[in-house]
Amino acid sequence: MDSPSFQKLFDLSGTPAVVTGGAGVLCAPMCRALAAAGAKVAVLDVDAGAAESLAAEIRATEAQAIGIACDVLDKTSLESAAQIVLAKFGRVDVLINGAGGNKPAATTNPEQTFFDLPAEALRWVFDLNLMGTILPSQVFGKLMARQKSGVILNISSMNAFRPLTRIPAYSAAKAGVSNFTQWLAVYMAQEYSPEIRVNAIAPGFFLTGQNRYLLTDKETGDLTPRGQSIIGHTPLKRFGIPDDLLGTLLWLVSPASAFVTGIVVPVDGGFSAFSGV
Ligand SMILES: NC(=O)c1ccc[n+]([C@@H]2O[C@H](COP(=O)([O-])OP(=O)(O)OC[C@H]3O[C@@H](n4cnc5c(N)ncnc54)[C@H](O)[C@@H]3O)[C@@H](O)[C@H]2O)c1
Repeated sequence: MDSPSFQKLFDLSGTPAVVTGGAGVLCAPMCRALAAAGAKVAVLDVDAGAAESLAAEIRATEAQAIGIACDVLDKTSLESAAQIVLAKFGRVDVLINGAGGNKPAATTNPEQTFFDLPAEALRWVFDLNLMGTILPSQVFGKLMARQKSGVILNISSMNAFRPLTRIPAYSAAKAGVSNFTQWLAVYMAQEYSPEIRVNAIAPGFFLTGQNRYLLTDKETGDLTPRGQSIIGHTPLKRFGIPDDLLGTLLWLVSPASAFVTGIVVPVDGGFSAFSGV
């Protein structure tokens, strides 16, 4: 490969990219990285203020970005977001399905066994993680099917490989996200175009809003036994930081991964490779 072709491997110049949950802890750095690599970024988030303030921050770097209020569980909201992105950027080449999460009401603890978990909390977690990935893939994937090219990147989890204790709905929903990633990769390539690729990142353990209550003591900030156990099972001996995801992100959304589809890449400090012995 000659030098100019080599430089184009990770080039996203002028590429319109949509990021759901784009204002969140892991996805905001992704939005900044996409913009720094030349992409035009649409930050979609249910938190309209956070989406717009991130977009404004990115625009201040001379890159193109828009913030759009959007609920990934509402098809009408997704369709109107798609119209805004099309009007502004003309097409959509990249979709990152970043919206997701767990909540305490769907988590077992000494006071709340599996048998007591409220159906509505379980359903909330299923919907946000699984339907919140499927519905945007329908809306933005349809545009990719029409233009016969595009990249979708889902966010799975360590729970998809083997479930962690305490979070049954989140584990099952993320297993669903990994399974759906494979399904959609095959469907898009076979039915529409081999230029449409679908992959996922499975982040290891990142200390963020949704898991801080499980990993650190809220009074002292010390690691809980669960937090200690995670570090003990992570050969690289630390939690991840959001920037750890960026290299894999840029690889999977750029021409550098042109022959890669239907995979789930762990970015986990070795957690999923370690048997514990
Ligand atoms: N934090 C971790 O350690 C970790 C590990 C593995 C996977 N993940 C996954 O990474 C993704 C991002 O997680 P995070 O830790 O950055 O979470 P976060 O809570 O910081 O970000 C999630 C974002 O999604 C938005 N959002 C929530 N509901 C929405 C909806 N219905 N429609 C649109 N936007 C919505 C929130 O406003 C928020 O900005 C999630 O899928 C999460 O499950 C996180």
